[in-house]
Amino acid sequence: MCGIVGYIGPKPAVPYLLDGLKRLEYRGYDSAGVALLGEHGLQVLKTVGKVSQLSLKVSRARSEHVGFGHTRWATHGVPSEANAHPHLSADGKIALIHNGIIENYQPLREELKSEGVLFRSETDTEVLVHLIARHYHGDLAEAVRIALGLISGAYGICVLHQNEPDRIVVAKMGSPLLIGLGADESFIASDQQALVGHSDRFIVLEDGEMAVVRATDVSVFTVDMQPVEREAIELAEELERIDQGDYAHFMLKEIFEQPRTISDAFAGRLLPEEGGVRLGGIAPVIDRLKACKRLILTACGTSWHAALVGEYILEDMLRIPVEVEYASEFRYRNPVIDEDCCVIAISQSGETADTLAAMKEAKRKGALVLGICNRVGSAIARESHAGVYLHAGPEIGVASTKAFTSQLVVLILLAVHMGRLRNLGYNHGRQVVDELRALPGRVQEILDSSEHIRAIAEKLAGHNNALYLGRGPFFPVALEGALKLKEISYIHAEGYPAAEMKHGPIALIDENMPVIVIAPRDDNYDKVISNIQEVRARRGKVVVVATRADTKLAELADEIILIPEAQPITLPILAAIPLQLMAYYTAVKRGCDVDQPRNLAKSVTVE
Ligand code: F6R
Repeated sequence: MCGIVGYIGPKPAVPYLLDGLKRLEYRGYDSAGVALLGEHGLQVLKTVGKVSQLSLKVSRARSEHVGFGHTRWATHGVPSEANAHPHLSADGKIALIHNGIIENYQPLREELKSEGVLFRSETDTEVLVHLIARHYHGDLAEAVRIALGLISGAYGICVLHQNEPDRIVVAKMGSPLLIGLGADESFIASDQQALVGHSDRFIVLEDGEMAVVRATDVSVFTVDMQPVEREAIELAEELERIDQGDYAHFMLKEIFEQPRTISDAFAGRLLPEEGGVRLGGIAPVIDRLKACKRLILTACGTSWHAALVGEYILEDMLRIPVEVEYASEFRYRNPVIDEDCCVIAISQSGETADTLAAMKEAKRKGALVLGICNRVGSAIARESHAGVYLHAGPEIGVASTKAFTSQLVVLILLAVHMGRLRNLGYNHGRQVVDELRALPGRVQEILDSSEHIRAIAEKLAGHNNALYLGRGPFFPVALEGALKLKEISYIHAEGYPAAEMKHGPIALIDENMPVIVIAPRDDNYDKVISNIQEVRARRGKVVVVATRADTKLAELADEIILIPEAQPITLPILAAIPLQLMAYYTAVKRGCDVDQPRNLAKSVTVE
């Protein structure tokens, strides 16, 4: 969602603000703005579009030493300069940036309007700056504290007052906020990435906390004015400076990184001699995990697709019931959960608001809650009783790719680990371990055939619809292929269990409908062949993802993409790779903004 950065210290603020916003831009990119406080008072500069547009308006040579910046993902009000943050109080003395949603903004807006406040934007955020102004009597932190007591919803905010140039007041509820500590300078960021190269120690603000950030000190307290002692954390060593390398897009780089990210997901975790795995992160809860009788996997989007594949793997290896829930629906349907249940939340960002809410609900009901996520120290990591990190490195392309395959690897590891504590034999465990070790090389083989996939994608680019079909664990892979295509190329795509096609979607098939069938050799193979025949009988164009030794499908398909032979457990990972490449090349051919597709943002921190 929105990106937030702030600076107070001896140096000019603008270079950090612009660099930080650029690094956080993948979180939201419809408009951007900065507030700067200096000898000319408080100034706000905003623009519609990306941070590069803002850079044209905000000279790096500016001298202000205090300021903050924001890159927006619109929730209330279209992307426009008026709706972009920072928002100003009516007297122009207070500036505010906000990540989150103020749920009760409508009655507050009406109330403020009836008092004569003139609103300049359609945003929910603007009510907060006016409320702070209403309660300002010479103490900004106190005014912020009172105003926050009047709103409900989620927020990460930064506030400046022209008369208090030595401080930025910040507060957090639901949306991430970090304070980087430097020598005589302080940094604010909604994500560690913005701090890389500026500050290697930072404080994490927790929900219900505020801070007064000065150049030389930071005081943290609760919204009830209780002082908080918070240890500073070292910036994670593995945090890389975001770098696109020689790739045309981050998404392509991230797809091609997968041989490494997959091996990083299992590095140091395989125990071939024992036919098992080691997962240090869940060791503290292992007895409870051993005793659990039911698993619920919860996640959103691509991570939800990983959960669906995981359902097959875990159920097969553990022989206990495994369910998958959309995190966004979870807490609204009063799920049946007890202490024998383990809820596993899966998330790349570790910040997704719906997933966090689902975890809190599961905890409230007494479940053991595990987190599988990529971002070390993220909200989801902190909310779980224990968990496993993906170690995939930062994922910048808005469409998730490498995190998905790492999630599948970690789910396999979890299945082996839990399985070996139950009935899974050594030979089975060992076979899976060997399969994982062979996986990076197999992924590389697929990447080496990217030109063939590009040629197929360029034909797909001329269509407006596509259908993805798969059976068993390849059904969620079909869902994921369709999601990738629609997100970045804006082609309408649907994923279906192959056999379901004849119950409705078959009506769509004609010579203009490309049908992508994921059909590696497994137990369902012959059945999928029948489904392909049904498509062909209606003149649909068939693109098949098949395993290399396949002899039948080449004759049936219009196009065939071959993946290496492997045991069924890793085939969903292999099958996902060509679908990622196909979506990527299709979007490029259609001239789309691959890394920052319209309307989307990385890390959905609002419900
Ligand atoms: C799709 C995509 C989203 C995310 C979803 C959950 O390419 O990236 O569907 O998977 O918003 O995000 P995380 O995994 O960060 O919780």
